[in-house]
Amino acid sequence: MKVFVTGVAGFVGYHVAGQLLAGGHQVVGLDSLNDYYSVRLKTDRLARLTTEAGFSFHKGDLSCRTTVDGVLQAHPDITHVVHLAAQAGVRHSLADPCAYITANITGHVVLLEAVRHLEGLRHIVYASSSSVYGLNEVMPFRESDAVDRPGSFYAVTKRAGELTAHAYAHLYGLRQTGLRFFTAYGPWGRPDMAYYTFARSIMNGTPLTLYAGAGLARDFTYIDDIVSGVLAALGNEPEPGDSRIFNLGCDAPTPVRRLVSLLEEALGRKALIEERNRPLSDVEATWSSHEAITDLTGWRPEVPIEEGIGRFVAWFRAYEAGLADS
Ligand SMILES: NC(=O)c1ccc[n+]([C@@H]2O[C@H](COP(=O)([O-])OP(=O)(O)OC[C@H]3O[C@@H](n4cnc5c(N)ncnc54)[C@H](O)[C@@H]3O)[C@@H](O)[C@H]2O)c1
Repeated sequence: MKVFVTGVAGFVGYHVAGQLLAGGHQVVGLDSLNDYYSVRLKTDRLARLTTEAGFSFHKGDLSCRTTVDGVLQAHPDITHVVHLAAQAGVRHSLADPCAYITANITGHVVLLEAVRHLEGLRHIVYASSSSVYGLNEVMPFRESDAVDRPGSFYAVTKRAGELTAHAYAHLYGLRQTGLRFFTAYGPWGRPDMAYYTFARSIMNGTPLTLYAGAGLARDFTYIDDIVSGVLAALGNEPEPGDSRIFNLGCDAPTPVRRLVSLLEEALGRKALIEERNRPLSDVEATWSSHEAITDLTGWRPEVPIEEGIGRFVAWFRAYEAGLADS
């Protein structure tokens, strides 16, 4: 396969690209390297990918058609697309909603408009999010549930991506699979996410903010499980014109208080906790059914949270120590 990976310097993109390259595939990566979080972390991830044969990187903005056309002109033999570039983060979508329109809506349409002309294109897998379940209360979340009660503008743009994929599959016969990721975590993870900010606070002895409510829980999914799910979906092509959607989560919601305890154990320090009211943009709980993707591909999550947090903390200690030294 020759795979176009958007958002390749991001958390999920870096891991997906690494696994594709390890499997002997070619990866064409695109990323704007924006400064939503540490650009250094993005370039550190990229530096590891660029040592691999079969990897080529293009710095640029997905919402610019000329940029995307330039990448495709250089690589007209792309067979698969893994679309991960996005403005991520639920809470930031209150501060800068327009950034989500540009990256998640314009970027997605520009990508589809460009790649639909590729002659050898087999399959597009793109990232959606558990956020599309919004204010739904019936658990676990299933793909057949109605998803018309978003709790944030981020969720609106992710649902718009699913609907855009559906229209493009119908109009142009594209094969597409959307994956609703449930709170991915692990080494090389995103410093804006709670598990990472908590780890930093515990390490530095500064207070962390915990949103009140015993029910606050997330279906944390270890990055290796996310990657194996993406690759399982990618290798399982739908019929032309089909646009499928699957949950990619653990089916094991963990209370956020339990996450803090696991981080305390792994870091060997107690957390200083400040309680605040939960922001309206943050849903109380997420819980994924993964029956549909398991039935289709045999995929199952394999890494329990206890093990995954241990692996994250081992990487976190080493990486943060390296930053302090440099
Ligand atoms: N990590 C999670 O828990 C999670 C959960 C649900 C959904 N998702 C989705 O999965 C995908 C990957 O998430 P992630 O955690 O790796 O996020 P990330 O922010 O680490 O990666 C996204 C990458 O896209 C790049 N990017 C943003 N806008 C761009 C643009 N206009 N042009 C080119 N590149 C651009 C960023 O520089 C970044 O490197 C995203 O679509 C996200 O919405 C992630």
